[in-house]
Amino acid sequence: MKKLAIAMIFAGATSLMADGAAIYAKCVACHGANGEKSALNKSGIIQGQDAATTVEQLNGYKAGTLNKYGMGGLMKGQVAALSDEDIQAVAEHIAGL
Ligand code: HEC
Repeated sequence: MKKLAIAMIFAGATSLMADGAAIYAKCVACHGANGEKSALNKSGIIQGQDAATTVEQLNGYKAGTLNKYGMGGLMKGQVAALSDEDIQAVAEHIAGL
């Protein structure tokens, strides 16, 4: 009984977690299905990039403080609506690509 209750708590927690793959779906057009493309021939390749770097970059775009290739404003629009949890989840997804 106890085991079942714990399993149920875990199942509930998982369904509340941000889904990195689902969030990444809206990045695919520019960065490629596996992060293998240079977005608009401007960005670096993000495939497999470590999650901490991606979190830092996405927070920079969100705050309007990062603009590596003159297109930071465009990326700001992409991440403006993402929560901290969403950013972490999508960063972990990219790291696994
Ligand atoms: C409309 C095209 C487009 C979409 C959609 C898009 N990006 Fe970008 N992304 C860019 C461009 C252009 C840059 C370069 C921005 C700059 O000048 O700093 C960039 C830069 C980045 C970088 C930094 C790459 C580097 O060179 O260091 C990351 C990380 C990133 N994007 C992640 C994402 C994620 C995650 C999403 C989805 C939530 C996303 N992008 C959606 C076009 C896009």
